[in-house]
Amino acid sequence: MSPCPDADNPGRVSPVVLARGLSTEDVGMSQNQRAYGTRADEVHPFFRAKREWSRVKDRIVGSYIACYLKTVQHRGRPIIIVDAFAGPGSFGDGSEGSPLIVCGAIGKAPKRGVGIACLFSDSHPAHRAALEERLSDYVKQGIAGKPLSDFSEALSCALQVGKGATLFFYLDPYGIKDLDFDTVKQIYERDTSQSTEVLINFNFKTFMRMSGNWSYTDSADDVARKVKESKIETVNSVMGGDYWIELVTNPRLDKTQREDAVVGAYMDRVRAFFQYTYAIPVKEMDDGAGVPSDDLAKYHLIFGTRSARAVLYMNDVANIALEPYFNQFKDGLLFSMTPRRYEPTSMEDVKSAILRVVNGRAMTRPQIYEAIVPGFFLQYRSKDYRAMIDGLVFKENRLFADPRTVKRKNKLNNETLLSTKPWPGGGGR
Ligand SMILES: C[S@@+](CC[C@H](N)C(=O)[O-])C[C@H]1O[C@@H](n2cnc3c(N)ncnc32)[C@H](O)[C@@H]1O
Repeated sequence: MSPCPDADNPGRVSPVVLARGLSTEDVGMSQNQRAYGTRADEVHPFFRAKREWSRVKDRIVGSYIACYLKTVQHRGRPIIIVDAFAGPGSFGDGSEGSPLIVCGAIGKAPKRGVGIACLFSDSHPAHRAALEERLSDYVKQGIAGKPLSDFSEALSCALQVGKGATLFFYLDPYGIKDLDFDTVKQIYERDTSQSTEVLINFNFKTFMRMSGNWSYTDSADDVARKVKESKIETVNSVMGGDYWIELVTNPRLDKTQREDAVVGAYMDRVRAFFQYTYAIPVKEMDDGAGVPSDDLAKYHLIFGTRSARAVLYMNDVANIALEPYFNQFKDGLLFSMTPRRYEPTSMEDVKSAILRVVNGRAMTRPQIYEAIVPGFFLQYRSKDYRAMIDGLVFKENRLFADPRTVKRKNKLNNETLLSTKPWPGGGGR
């Protein structure tokens, strides 16, 4: 029986046999590990209780998949969501893991006759067995199949059965060693006429540990010495080259600039394949008294897509999920203490950018969003852009609405054409 969804009909997953009654030999576990279950003392330490930053990640994944499924169905192609580092499906505190979040979003998505399936894999046999059991309802509904044995199997399966399908890959390993660049690149190199998106958990702190265990406060010389003494082959294979060495040993960069430089250079590698590539920094809240300090991210979610529309969705989803973190630099403080690297561009400058894209070509609001938001990712939400456009039209007279496309007085809609020049007979607005 193929572990993959039906090759001729990727929207349907093959029937699976549930893992109940698997012997310890079957799953390669010790007697103790066989007790793998749902209680905190029965699971891997990572899965004992869900930490706040994992919740932020889940909000991003769950909300994005919900938006994604509403729109990609219009392509009329089967959709496969691959969660290749799936985990056991739930945490010791009862919280749902990513596979259940993804399946839940599929269950709630409006169905438009397009097959939607998920592929899960995990290299830990006990995680696979636990996951299989927790997915049983979704397996019966044909949404999920039996979890595959590891990332490489899930990848080849998805690429093989999903040739004409819309694919979304969520890669959430513990660290970075499983993210071999050439392996992941197979996702990036898919036929660009198909829709492909990736969301990768890139852990900069693991990167620091693996590249010499240098610390946040080490000088460039110390970092250089530690990098030299360490085995960097694995890091090079993950990063897709050794370009990172000159960044982490650059004496002109401070600790957060090093983080930005390495993550930025890694994104450039991904951007060679995906026009839109962003890093979403998932941070730990500072629970100390006083003004919070800007620390390294717990991890960065690297998002790659070729769709400007997808950027709009992810922009809103990530902005909402990160809001509590960024609010702590403003709420209750006399002045905003937002770290400079996260300071948004002023609204005045965003409005000037809007006027520049509209200049010479009338555009609708959605067209403006798609042209503008990718340049200001994570800084503002759709509602803010809508307010800025309203301001340009109704308060500042710098944008003009084609009266033939306005349905209600003093109200723009998504079909309203906007121009930097007044429309004949338009009365200015
Ligand atoms: C961070 S956890 C995933 C958590 C999960 N996304 C969630 O939110 O519930 C990483 C998982 O990857 C699994 N893993 C490690 N190496 C793997 C590999 N090469 N292929 C597939 N899974 C792997 C681990 O067993 C672990 O369950």
